[in-house]
Amino acid sequence: MKPFFVRDIAIDPPLILSPMAGVTDYVFRRLIKRRGGVGLVVSEFISVEGLTRGNPKSKRQMRFDEEERPFAVQIFGGRPERMAMGAEMAEEVGADILDVNCGCPAPKVVKNGGGSGLLREPDRLEEILKAIKRAISIPLTLKLRTGYSDSSINVVDVAKMAEQCGVEHIQVHGRTREQGYKGLANWELIRQVKEAVSIPVSGNGDITSIEYGMEKWRESGVNGILIGRGAMQNPWIFRQFEDVLAGREPYRPDLAEKKAVLLEFFEMCLGEMPEIVALGKMKQLAGQFTKGLPGGAAFRQTLYHSHSEQEILDNISTYFESIEKRNLFDDSCVKDSDLEITSCEAFSSETRSEAVGV
Ligand SMILES: Cc1cc2nc3c(=O)[nH]c(=O)nc-3n(C[C@H](O)[C@H](O)[C@H](O)COP(=O)(O)O)c2cc1C
Repeated sequence: MKPFFVRDIAIDPPLILSPMAGVTDYVFRRLIKRRGGVGLVVSEFISVEGLTRGNPKSKRQMRFDEEERPFAVQIFGGRPERMAMGAEMAEEVGADILDVNCGCPAPKVVKNGGGSGLLREPDRLEEILKAIKRAISIPLTLKLRTGYSDSSINVVDVAKMAEQCGVEHIQVHGRTREQGYKGLANWELIRQVKEAVSIPVSGNGDITSIEYGMEKWRESGVNGILIGRGAMQNPWIFRQFEDVLAGREPYRPDLAEKKAVLLEFFEMCLGEMPEIVALGKMKQLAGQFTKGLPGGAAFRQTLYHSHSEQEILDNISTYFESIEKRNLFDDSCVKDSDLEITSCEAFSSETRSEAVGV
């Protein structure tokens, strides 16, 4: 388990913050990157229909900071010429890698031929990949689900085709489109992809503990691991993973640091967006961060009913003081069943309009 390369870009450590629409924005990516252990960050998926029509939100989504490098922009869409144009724009803003979304299950994205819809139309996907390759010089990567449905699992064939098209890294979320987020990711299929191609392959799905991550990594033999929802629950998960890979004891943040990370996130949000949006982002992160923790449910309730910056700050202080007294704040309480946040289907109505090209 060592760093791998996407062409000449070292993914070191081989741990990737998985793209999440509405989550992995400029603020969240830097928050996680600063905790350490992250080898690659990826933007939220960005609509090429929005991007190529000058939609300000889509352009904003490509913004990144030098501290984030290496940085990948992920685009989605179903039309080869638009995908090539969007890819070119990502290269122009200085992205290190261009990633194509071939996994989003949201009906509006799929209906327009993008996301996991491309798994049903490998010929169209091939056309898209070839068009993008002609348009950019930075490496092209692909993020896939295992198939459209259980009866049409085709990830191995699609990965082989992508390799032929010049794709330089395959990332597999081990679920079908039909599965959504139900059940567990199928790491056996991820292993089969790794065996079938010679470019690097990274696996993804349900990694919320170092133990489970190490187990799946060993079993599948992948080059890298993507972690999505687990990073919202535990922003130090990458650093802890890196520690274990290096034979060290995994880092254990204390209570003060846990509180500090929430406050750092809130401050960064307030510096970047209107207060009302920052409040929403804070509720989203704190909601995941405190799942399974003692008093977490009550804390989330108070947060959901907070309507100002001061109210949020007061509630955070009260919560941390209370758990400090009880000394019960403990990661071990977090269960997989708590990871029930919705997928990219939860992305904003603005993006939905872009996705359908209106
Ligand atoms: C809220 C949310 C938004 C997501 N948005 C995207 C996205 O924009 N692009 C993408 O490729 N995958 C997206 N995904 C899928 C994740 O990247 C990842 O494949 C999936 O959550 C499984 O990994 P995990 O179990 O580590 O979370 C999203 C998932 C969630 C929960």
